[in-house]
Amino acid sequence: MSGFPTTRLRRLRRTGVLRDLVRETEIRSSDLIYPLFVSEDEEGRCPIASMPDVDRLSLGELSREAAAAWAEGIRAVLLFGIPSVRDETGSAARAADGIVQRAVLALKEENPELVVITDVCLCEYTSHGHCGLVRDGEVLNDDTLELLAAQAVSHARAGADLVAPSDMMDGRVGAIRAALDEEGFHETGILSYAVKYASSFYGPFREAVDSAPAFGDRRGYQMDSANVLDALREVALDIEEGADILMVKPALPYLDVLRRVKETFGMPTAAYQVSGEYAMIRAADERGWLDGPSAMMEAAVAIRRAGADLVITYAARDLARRLS
Ligand code: PBG
Repeated sequence: MSGFPTTRLRRLRRTGVLRDLVRETEIRSSDLIYPLFVSEDEEGRCPIASMPDVDRLSLGELSREAAAAWAEGIRAVLLFGIPSVRDETGSAARAADGIVQRAVLALKEENPELVVITDVCLCEYTSHGHCGLVRDGEVLNDDTLELLAAQAVSHARAGADLVAPSDMMDGRVGAIRAALDEEGFHETGILSYAVKYASSFYGPFREAVDSAPAFGDRRGYQMDSANVLDALREVALDIEEGADILMVKPALPYLDVLRRVKETFGMPTAAYQVSGEYAMIRAADERGWLDGPSAMMEAAVAIRRAGADLVITYAARDLARRLS
């Protein structure tokens, strides 16, 4: 192998056209999943202070936002519900006329082609803000499974294409798959938050949906950020239990994990650029400390390069506009 001056890697970096010709990683608007917050109490749009350009939406605004995103090339949305009433067991999560169930019905009626994915978890619906049933200060695993399965079935009944459990209870993918099949929803898929770390980067999200736990934290069920072998075990179990698509979350601080998951299992894999990752870039942009839109694109491409087939991002619309 001959080195410099025979080899000059800069030859292929001279122009945009040459760079395009040899680019290794592509990102398309159809690789993006757009998370949306739909609120039962909202009249219109309510801004979220720590997430510029992200709003809590009424049902009507949700429809408008999804239609606008579709027109820009986005093909999938991930719905989070904010109910008006919360209780000990999060009963609004599995109500046939719950906010997410109504949202799914409306979106699928307006555009049957739009891929509608729903977050399945109790924390937005419980008075204590934990992702499962609580007894004597403890988040119960097995007793929570039934509730998650009921929530997933109610989303499927409303027409969700995929349900996305984010609670991190052991065995929930299997419980949800069994319940869906039993109710005849064989075609409803599961996008599993297989690898979900206990992360400080969820801060703005918890402000958005008001789901910070009333006591303790989520480290008793979400993963320790120091672990990667644990991530591979989580994924192996979720595949065995019937997951169709895997997710790693957060994204940018965990690109090594994403790479390991994609290379080890070769499954369709999504990565979630979470609220804190989005907020960091937007905050630095507001201060003029970096160029937000190009930093956001760079982050999305990096997430793809590390192994994500799909990128879940609050910046989906901005990215799609830049890509077209
Ligand atoms: C619910 C859930 C959370 C996020 C997605 N689903 C919050 C949490 O686990 O505390 C975070 C998403 C984000 O930060 O953008 N369990």
